[in-house]
Amino acid sequence: MSVVALVPAAGRGERLGYGMPKALVPVNGQPLLARAVRGLFASGCVHHVVIAAPPSDVDAVNTVTASLAPVGGAVHVLPGGAERTDSVRLALEFALAEIPDTRVVLVHDAARAFTPPEVVKTVVDAVLSGADAVIPVLPVADTIKQVDQAGVVVATPDRAVLRIVQTPQGFDAKVLASAYRSGVTATDDAALVELLGVPVTTVPGHPHAMKITTPFDLAVAEAVLTGGNA
Ligand code: CTP
Ligand code: MG
Repeated sequence: MSVVALVPAAGRGERLGYGMPKALVPVNGQPLLARAVRGLFASGCVHHVVIAAPPSDVDAVNTVTASLAPVGGAVHVLPGGAERTDSVRLALEFALAEIPDTRVVLVHDAARAFTPPEVVKTVVDAVLSGADAVIPVLPVADTIKQVDQAGVVVATPDRAVLRIVQTPQGFDAKVLASAYRSGVTATDDAALVELLGVPVTTVPGHPHAMKITTPFDLAVAEAVLTGGNA
């Protein structure tokens, strides 16, 4: 039985504006991707990591992953796609074809490089306990408004029933495979599964599982999440 983490890392990092793919951006000397992969294996319950790399930077990603060894599992690198969903699809197809007995699939953004290993373990345990789909979530601190195209407020959803969604998202491998085969599209992997009518369970996320998107996020990571150290 294998637990396989798919790591979409093929984005260009335009909003970060670092002049290189975000996965390769160092935070106190260590690329985000290296931190993300280490965190997955540190959970003690991930056997394989499949990285969707920026197609023009597969060699650079291989250099990063080679510098990690030994991590306690197998690392596979392949070129990602044009959109995140294409990168996940390619990594999933690789896992289903090449890794025997894939039972649990995690999808984890390289950009959530500081996700505590405990969150990874909680998600895996929930899938192994029988959930088809599991997402880590946080309560919403701000009031959220729904607006129309002109920016005029049309509704104020009850904050108590809203959640912020993080990764890793965990799936029974067969369920995620059928979601990707179904032809439905969504930006979020759990949303694909929801569209099939499969229940998606939530578990507690963690503030450190924040997505590094902007220079502000990177500054927070450098100052807080690494404690100023590598
Ligand atoms: N991703 C991917 N393939 C793509 C686009 C994104 O694998 N074609 C990955 C990113 O590498 C990242 C995750 O999906 O780990 C979330 O995407 P995002 O935070 O938007 O990262 P980027 O696309 O790199 O950033 P930006 O949108 O600012 O360019
Ligand atoms: Mg993007």
